[in-house]
Amino acid sequence: MKRGTTIYLYELAWILPSIALPVGMLVALTVTAFGAGIHLPSDAGRVDPLRVTEGAPFDRLGVTPIAPGEYEVRMLAQIWAFAPGEIRIPAGSRIHFWVTSKDVVHGFWIPRANVNVMVLPGQVAHVEAVFDRPGESPIICHEYCGIAHHTMASKIVVEPQS
Ligand code: CUA
Repeated sequence: MKRGTTIYLYELAWILPSIALPVGMLVALTVTAFGAGIHLPSDAGRVDPLRVTEGAPFDRLGVTPIAPGEYEVRMLAQIWAFAPGEIRIPAGSRIHFWVTSKDVVHGFWIPRANVNVMVLPGQVAHVEAVFDRPGESPIICHEYCGIAHHTMASKIVVEPQS
């Protein structure tokens, strides 16, 4: 084999994966977005952060049944706590979380579920999750929000169905 040809093959060995990688990523993105329906949590509405508890939907916080096996959970993030401090839901239910912040940017992360959103003042975050297994899980603020950020957490208790 001539030397010139060998160099060309080495180049090809780098060029082809460098084309295949972004194409593979684009395919993965398309399949997850349109096939599996996975989307970024989007802006689900606006509220006035200074008067958020005066009107719907954040004047009544906590768990509200909306259909058999489905619940709406409205939560408020503020320095340095979530309200309510504990949520109780029956196992197997689908939960629609509506969360907003009264002051600064917070996070809303439930490690045992597919829930991980930023909570921005004035913006309503909406995220859904199904809780099949009974047990407890923390709800954690994972955006640095000030001196007591590390203490900011709530709890979700999934109760066995009776
Ligand atoms: Cu709220 Cu960190």
